[in-house]
Amino acid sequence: MKLSLDQKYEFYERSVQNPEIEVDFMRAEFKRFFGRTPVTMREDFCGTGAISCHWVGTHKDALAYGVDLDPEPIGMGKKMHLSKLNAKQQTRMHYLKENVLKTSAPKTDVICAFNFSYWIFKQRKDLLKYFKQVKKSLNKQGVFFMDLFGGPESQKLVTDQKKVPGGITYFWECQHFNPITHDCTFAIHFKDAKGKKHLNVFTYDWRFWTLPELRDILNEAGFSKVVAFWEGDDGEGGGNGEFEPSEDGENCDAWVSYIAAIN
Ligand SMILES: C[S@@+](CC[C@H](N)C(=O)[O-])C[C@H]1O[C@@H](n2cnc3c(N)ncnc32)[C@H](O)[C@@H]1O
Repeated sequence: MKLSLDQKYEFYERSVQNPEIEVDFMRAEFKRFFGRTPVTMREDFCGTGAISCHWVGTHKDALAYGVDLDPEPIGMGKKMHLSKLNAKQQTRMHYLKENVLKTSAPKTDVICAFNFSYWIFKQRKDLLKYFKQVKKSLNKQGVFFMDLFGGPESQKLVTDQKKVPGGITYFWECQHFNPITHDCTFAIHFKDAKGKKHLNVFTYDWRFWTLPELRDILNEAGFSKVVAFWEGDDGEGGGNGEFEPSEDGENCDAWVSYIAAIN
């Protein structure tokens, strides 16, 4: 049997999302740059808007705008996250079924694009156009946060897997990688608690962007400073979940990191 919509998004969020960590990270880094706590946030490619709802639910004045083209994750987000906020908090959360390139969201302190979603822009000129749009949409004291992944292992046609709560196994497969264009396709599969495998539950057709390319394009878009973050070492060959500004990362086989672009 196919996964229900509830299962599809529940499995996804248990496997790849951690809104608490991302909201804490953005608030702390914004404060490090500007000495105050940010209040307004736009989450581009928001999917279910888990990060936006957490943003609104953890600060009394916080406002968030979740932007996504697809009504399916937005509908699921209202069911899974918006419904858990109280009535007052709900008035501060706005789902916008819009294109990130033409959103009606007002200017905000923070804009974020997580889970590599901006990799849908395959041409440099299109990514530059998006970054310029983001810059224009930030308040004077504003920061754009994005994540990315890399390392030689992440360009190989391999499947990583991990167990997640609820007896679920999550699979992340690199299905295609073109070294000339960096066109790539990735897919998420799941094995449910009964052992049934569900293939290609989410698929991604991306360009694999590298950290130096992204920094160049962000600088060209006019950001005043572009900061790369690198994860600390847990002493056992893995990451410790703590990301700090860095100009010299360890050349790991596979890594995930963040960039902050300051208006
Ligand atoms: C990889 S998912 C990421 C969802 C969420 N950000 C997360 O962290 O899990 C990418 C999302 O981007 C949305 N999307 C793709 N192109 C878009 C665009 N031009 N404007 C707005 N949303 C877009 C898709 O509908 C999808 O929900």
